[in-house]
Amino acid sequence: MKLLISRRLPETVMAEAEARFDVTCRTVTTPMDHGECVAALGAYDIVLPTLGDAFRAEAFAEVPELRCRLLANFGVGYNHIDVAAARAVGIAVTNTPGAVTDATADIAMTLILMTARRAGEGERMVRAGDWTGWHPTQMLGLHLSGRTVCIVGMGRIGQAIAHRCHNGFGCRIVYVNRSAKAVDMPAEQMEMAEALGVADVVVLATPGGADTRHLMGAEAFAAMQPHAIFVNISRGDVVDEAALITALKAGAIAGAGLDVYEFEPVVPEALIAMENVTLLPHLGTAALEVREAMGRMALENVIAFAEGRDLPNPV
Ligand code: 8YV
Repeated sequence: MKLLISRRLPETVMAEAEARFDVTCRTVTTPMDHGECVAALGAYDIVLPTLGDAFRAEAFAEVPELRCRLLANFGVGYNHIDVAAARAVGIAVTNTPGAVTDATADIAMTLILMTARRAGEGERMVRAGDWTGWHPTQMLGLHLSGRTVCIVGMGRIGQAIAHRCHNGFGCRIVYVNRSAKAVDMPAEQMEMAEALGVADVVVLATPGGADTRHLMGAEAFAAMQPHAIFVNISRGDVVDEAALITALKAGAIAGAGLDVYEFEPVVPEALIAMENVTLLPHLGTAALEVREAMGRMALENVIAFAEGRDLPNPV
């Protein structure tokens, strides 16, 4: 079977794929554009896409002669794929849930602690040679231990963050979720406005896509406390970035830690200019063993498809 891999994966994964399939791998690291997606749907039995590859409805509508029957996504988030349009033309879609959970939760903790304790700011000051030495009121931040953390989106990643905050830092956990959740830890489910109003830290951990677009906008930031910080490790367009910038400039919230951006990889100058904002380049799963696990999971779906077995991770 002809398999297109949209971005080069860790070598161990590439070797396994090449041992079993007629593999083509793009040599660039940028997302597939519309034209490439249309061409791929006609030329390959299976495509292994990832973040940003433009498999929107138009791509499925425009392919002259469809050959592809599976999009085995590398990553848990698949908001770059119009799943309904894919299904309508008989294409299955899979993802890699679980493989990303702990690594993404760790990046959330990194952003919470860097932003709360002004670590990026301090690190920049030291590197710039501007540090004049310790004193009792130097660069005081938000003490995380025992604080109230609000998780918006209590799925696998949200719960992993909640566990780290509660068990590691003694935090009270409140959460917002579309459906009732059975969580194996002390956590209070609340309506959005109430949860945002009691939180010292708000973490966004929802899927991206039309259902959650701009879930965090002006109204949500206005509901937060002025000393509270906001962290996003989900998808950039879940946040109205202009409203976030306005809230930060107005002091409606005290800081933000971001791993994803509304128009990624474009990061607004206004955010770059702010000292109370931590900006990471989508490092959610940036560890070799994690990317290898994600690659193996995506391949398991490709192999199952090729062998006519049920797909392990259908979306
Ligand atoms: C991935 C992610 O590294 O899995 C996801 O959805 O956002 C990241 O963990 C990357 O975006 C590929 O999908």
